[in-house]
Amino acid sequence: MKQGKQIYEGKAKKVYRTDDPRFLIVSYKDDATAFNGLKKGTIVGKGVINNKMSNLLMQRLEKAGIPTHFVLELSDRETLVKKVSIVPLEVIIRNIAAGSFSKRYGVEEGQKFDVPTIEFSYKNDDLGDPLLNKAHAIAMKLATEEEIATIEKYAFAVNEELKKFWAECGVTLVDFKLEFGRLADGTIVLADEISPDTCRLWDMKTGEKLDKDRFRRDLGGVEDAYSEVMKRLLQHI
Ligand code: TMP
Ligand code: ASP
Repeated sequence: MKQGKQIYEGKAKKVYRTDDPRFLIVSYKDDATAFNGLKKGTIVGKGVINNKMSNLLMQRLEKAGIPTHFVLELSDRETLVKKVSIVPLEVIIRNIAAGSFSKRYGVEEGQKFDVPTIEFSYKNDDLGDPLLNKAHAIAMKLATEEEIATIEKYAFAVNEELKKFWAECGVTLVDFKLEFGRLADGTIVLADEISPDTCRLWDMKTGEKLDKDRFRRDLGGVEDAYSEVMKRLLQHI
C-alpha cells in the first residue's frame, strides 16, 4: 500500500493517507509531551517500542474478541490501520488509584480498588481534556448511548485481558487510557495506541514505575523503563 499525504500530526504520531480510502498509515514519533503539551521532550526509541507494543497487544485483544483498528505492521515505526473517525472521548480505566484520580479525590497513590473504575474525558486540547460523564457525552452528541455501552464493554474487557497478560510479565496494570473510533459502517473499534505512554505499569515486586510517569515526574531512566517493559512483553507474548 502506498503512503500518501500526511493528514494529521498529533503529539506522538503522524497519520498519512494511503491509496485505499479504507486504510491509513500511522507513524510513531519519539516526541513526548505531558500536561497538555506544556512539558515537551524526547524519549529516544519510544516510537519504535510503542508501535510494536501497541500492535502486539491489539493483536492479542483481537483474539479475545475486541475489534481494533490494527491491520499490519509496516516497519519499525509505521503501521497500517483501518480508517476510523475517532470518538472524541478518552476512556480511562483504573485498577489502582494514581495520577489525576489521587489528586482530584485525595486518595493515596497505590490504593487498590475492589472493582475497576471507568471515566471519560472530552478529547479537546483547547479545553485541557475535561472530565465528563455519560449524560454529558450524549448531550454533546460525542457518542450515542448505545456506542457508549459498547465502548464501556470493550474497555472493561481490554482491562481483564491486559491485566492478566501484564501480570504474567510481572507488571501491575495500574490504569490506562483508550480511544475508540467508528469505521465507515459505524462499527466501534479500539483505535489509537496501547503503550507505556498511555498505561501506568508498575513492577510487581518493587513497585518501580515502568511508564511515562518517569518522564512526567522527572524520575530519570525513561528509556530504560520503556525497554524493560518491552523486553518483558516479548518474553511472554
Ligand atoms: P491520569 O491519572 O493523569 O488521569 O492518567 C490516567 C491514565 O491515562 C494514565 O495511564 C496515563 C493515561 N493518559 C494518557 O494516555 N493521555 C493523557 O493525556 C493523560 C492525561 C493520561
Ligand atoms: N499526552 C498528554 C499531553 O501532552 C499528557 C500525558 O500523557 O500526560 O498533553
